[in-house]
Amino acid sequence: MRDIITGQKSSLNSSQAGNLILKRVEVKISEDENVRRFLTEEMIVKRKMRILSLVLTALMVTGLGGCGSTDNSIDNTAPQNDTITNDQGTETDTSEVSIAVETPQTEEETVEPEPGSENSDILVVYFSRTGEQYTVGVIDKGNTAIVAEMISEETGADMFEVIPEDDHYPMTYSELTDVAKQEQNDNARPAYAGEVPDLSQYSTIFIGAPVWWGDWPMIMYTFFENNKEGLAGKTLIPFSTHEGSGLSGFDKKLSSACPDATVLDGLAIRGNDCQNDQDSVREDVSEWVTGLDY
Ligand SMILES: Cc1cc2nc3c(=O)[nH]c(=O)nc-3n(C[C@H](O)[C@H](O)[C@H](O)COP(=O)(O)O)c2cc1C
Repeated sequence: MRDIITGQKSSLNSSQAGNLILKRVEVKISEDENVRRFLTEEMIVKRKMRILSLVLTALMVTGLGGCGSTDNSIDNTAPQNDTITNDQGTETDTSEVSIAVETPQTEEETVEPEPGSENSDILVVYFSRTGEQYTVGVIDKGNTAIVAEMISEETGADMFEVIPEDDHYPMTYSELTDVAKQEQNDNARPAYAGEVPDLSQYSTIFIGAPVWWGDWPMIMYTFFENNKEGLAGKTLIPFSTHEGSGLSGFDKKLSSACPDATVLDGLAIRGNDCQNDQDSVREDVSEWVTGLDY
């Protein structure tokens, strides 16, 4: 009898030799099993490494691109229930895969207050008319409205337009002058529509209107009186548009109407320039705003 593995002549009988061969085959199978297991585990490790590198790449791309989400706090240790299947069909839990990835932080941007934003502590209040106006014909944007917008653009201020509650003002110039004169003679207080913004959030308030018969239009006195408390303690800055009368004492009259406010130097702009020479008006507004101490 010869050993089937070594080929040597054996002293064992056939039954003993059969048992020995069986044992050696079992040992061989068991060794093969260990190798197979090792190889399988090695494959799993390699697979995990591949997944890790894929996850890392994906996270870096997402972080660098900064697309969509602004939340950079990715919880990389959050348990996942994913499984992978290796070449042998064995499922492996990847929940223990935990990586620490630093995603790039987006730089903090300095946000300039937009006109009309809730962050501004500056307000522009104005009254203005469309329709037929002196020297400019029929206009679809009032002269004072144009200046008010420029101030808002320059300062980031919010805006509030004083609009008559019942718009009884005529669209033709001569009729409008009559109505305005009558209101002045009556010391009227025409009502305005809408809700005035909460003035407590503003420290500085620009207030502008056209000069009507050498004075503020009477509806502006309604505004001053209705908001006397809200305007107290504020810095008020008057501006006018006109056709020759300049500021017409807007500053002194505003001080009298709002004695508890600080009134700064005002600006007077020709109405005609608002329609026909906006570059120079913008320059004047910018220069004036820059020189104000508010
Ligand atoms: C009723 C009325 C009265 C006016 N009174 C004067 C005045 O006394 N002095 C002056 O220079 N301009 C006067 N103007 C011209 C306006 O002040 C000027 O056209 C202004 O730019 C109009 O502004 P708005 O378009 O914002 O309403 C008067 C205009 C009207 C309609």
